[in-house]
Amino acid sequence: MNRRAQFLEVLGIPAEWVPRRLAGAPVEAATLVEVEVDIEVATVAVAAVGAEAAAEIEASLPTPTAPPRVVMVEALSPAPQPAVQDEAALARDAAIAAMDWAALEAAVAECTACGLSDTRTNTVLGVGDRRAEWMLVGEAPGENEDLQGEPFVGQAGKLLDNMLGALGLARDRNVFIANVLKCRPPGNRNPEPEEVAHCEPFLRRQIALIRPKVIVVLGRFAAQSLLRSTTPIGKLRGTVHQYEGIPVVVTYHPAYLLRTLTDKARAWEDLCLAREVHDRAGAEA
Ligand code: URA
Repeated sequence: MNRRAQFLEVLGIPAEWVPRRLAGAPVEAATLVEVEVDIEVATVAVAAVGAEAAAEIEASLPTPTAPPRVVMVEALSPAPQPAVQDEAALARDAAIAAMDWAALEAAVAECTACGLSDTRTNTVLGVGDRRAEWMLVGEAPGENEDLQGEPFVGQAGKLLDNMLGALGLARDRNVFIANVLKCRPPGNRNPEPEEVAHCEPFLRRQIALIRPKVIVVLGRFAAQSLLRSTTPIGKLRGTVHQYEGIPVVVTYHPAYLLRTLTDKARAWEDLCLAREVHDRAGAEA
């Protein structure tokens, strides 16, 4: 089975949901536009009439005429600072920005900068190859991650591992996985802005130490935090952004993909885009 078929199987997307024109097609920017258009129509149709009719509906779709998409790289707005940042906070940020891995690991493990340190079991620094060309960034540890001290070890993590496998990647080999927050918000509530502000220097330093060729951001929260944006995830994905000069591709969170059938094919498009960005960076290196 080729990688694409393997990936679609991992995501639970029946073959008949996928435009036939794309079968075996190389990953090109132009095809990404086609997928967007076709899947939009095909998935709505599937929801309405059932999977069996999908192939027929897809076959009847007009051939898209969209021109090849130019991959855009957006400049990231300057790193935001709280309106008033006291000297101690500035000194802390500067100290973190100068840390090596050992110091960073210790600083995260001992961090008491916000209230999450009162409720956590373990800090979750991240896992993987510290010289990886791929970096994935999620939101925050959940219950299992808090217990085990490793990101994405629950159900969503299994899906993530399978998605990575379909791309020829693995968390213990050629990818590094981290979160915006290093501690679990109690009850898996949304992170507070103050918690993000305290934790951000850690992630920024991780990214600076790894210098991946591409960062894949998982889910709305991580994407909006990293990119300093309030734009909905549906609009952030499909474009190449930048963080500190490193290309960033946004996709859906695996936990969301577990329950949202209609967006699974889009996640595949996103990873194709990330692969393209990665390979291009490799070619330019
Ligand atoms: N969700 C995340 O965003 N990160 C994890 O580590 C686990 C679940």
